[in-house]
Amino acid sequence: MLFDTHAHYSSSSFDQDRDEVLASLPGEGVGLVLCPGSDLWTSRRCIELAEQYPHVYAAAGIHPEDALDLPEDWLAQVEEMASHPKVRAIGEIGLDYYWQEVPHDLQKEVFRAQLALAQRLDLPVIVHDREAHGDSLDIVREFPGVKGVFHCYSGSVEMAKVLVDLGWYLSFTGTITFKNARKAPEVIAAMPIERIMVETDAPYMAPVPFRGKRCDSRYVYRMAETIAEIKGLTWEEVEAITTENGKRLFRIEG
Ligand code: NI
Repeated sequence: MLFDTHAHYSSSSFDQDRDEVLASLPGEGVGLVLCPGSDLWTSRRCIELAEQYPHVYAAAGIHPEDALDLPEDWLAQVEEMASHPKVRAIGEIGLDYYWQEVPHDLQKEVFRAQLALAQRLDLPVIVHDREAHGDSLDIVREFPGVKGVFHCYSGSVEMAKVLVDLGWYLSFTGTITFKNARKAPEVIAAMPIERIMVETDAPYMAPVPFRGKRCDSRYVYRMAETIAEIKGLTWEEVEAITTENGKRLFRIEG
């Protein structure tokens, strides 16, 4: 069974068939899904889905692109959601310097506040780092008690090694299946398999040969296949190990 460690089923892309897709996943070999929030509303929506489906877990948090115009009690709202038994992480949180809309200082403030919350609640975090590698690494190092995953990892091999030494995980999306993928395969080759997880980031970034289609967790086997190829492991080994890694990080038993 595979664990899709990052899929946005709160997205309106699933409004027509969300229940059909989610209900089908265990029969399609995807036994676990983690649905991260990106703002207060989507965090709540992910929790509702986790209540509805035994194989779905949730994370609550504010994405850097959603850090503008937060209500005054936003952090208290995230904390309250984090007390739900199916919320297994704070996320997704981080820095995004690709989109220019949200000032970097505000992104950093919201990121730090949520790392401090994760430290206090003893929860792992799911980090979004887009074109902000140096600052993302510096800030997570300010919170040595916090562990988590850099999702859709796009940093260097050197940074990956630092993160692994700090006890962090990296997860990879369909971009690793693209013909022009260069850096991620190098990172995967250099990383211990015990720190790698697979994810779709559905509805975005469908893997080859489904590129351009709406992505859902049924495609996550392509990431496991690609990792198996890069690391010279069998598909079954990658399936078992990446699922164990996700269960260990997000403290999912059974
Ligand atoms: Ni995401």
